[in-house]
Amino acid sequence: MFVERVTQQLRKPTASLLGWFVKKFLESNRILEATAVNVCDIQPDNVVLELGFGPGLGLQEAARRLTHPAGKLYGLDISEYMYNTASERLKAEIQAGKVTLFLGSVEHIPLGDSTLDRVYHCNCYYFWPDLRAGSREIHRVMKPGALMVTALHLEFLQKLLAAGLLKGTKWQPELYMEALSETGFIDVRMEEQKMNGKSFPAIFATATKT
Ligand SMILES: C[S@@+](CC[C@H](N)C(=O)[O-])C[C@H]1O[C@@H](n2cnc3c(N)ncnc32)[C@H](O)[C@@H]1O
Repeated sequence: MFVERVTQQLRKPTASLLGWFVKKFLESNRILEATAVNVCDIQPDNVVLELGFGPGLGLQEAARRLTHPAGKLYGLDISEYMYNTASERLKAEIQAGKVTLFLGSVEHIPLGDSTLDRVYHCNCYYFWPDLRAGSREIHRVMKPGALMVTALHLEFLQKLLAAGLLKGTKWQPELYMEALSETGFIDVRMEEQKMNGKSFPAIFATATKT
């Protein structure tokens, strides 16, 4: 079925004709990615992670803000095609040691405990195999008091759902917010964010640790 193949490509784009179209479509998401980076309020010396970075537009936005030598950006994505695409796009920053990208899934983030000041992701959690395992692992790598932001294109998501795409995914924001609250995050809330005349909901969560 065509809709299932498109859903599969949104979940994990591959180097194929359909994967190429999905990549082109994702390259129109710069404002959403920029919104997530903007509301993260990234400081120049922060250590930051983007999950499910896709073609790497959000990585570019975040890397620009990390102007202090201590500032460092990590990215993790499950798709080899997206890993290669973003590695090419961020070539200079990777060579400079400012950015490091990993190929892998959210339940196994290859970083130590309490490493990160900020984590953000867009259009991504719907595809995770287990929301609680994902949010538990994000919590592990975050410093106490660190901020996690998820920006959503809810209107577009509704259109995809109406077209029969994303079947079987846990797309409802409430499900992710519930998982966050159950795995060590506080102040979990969703707020509308405006940027360049567009408006997107964003989920905020703060990591607490004892
Ligand atoms: C719909 S795309 C969104 C890409 C980009 N964030 C955007 O909004 O344009 C979903 C991305 O999440 C990645 N992804 C899906 N499941 C993942 C997982 N379990 N762990 C890490 N990345 C994942 C996919 O490979 C893909 O790049």
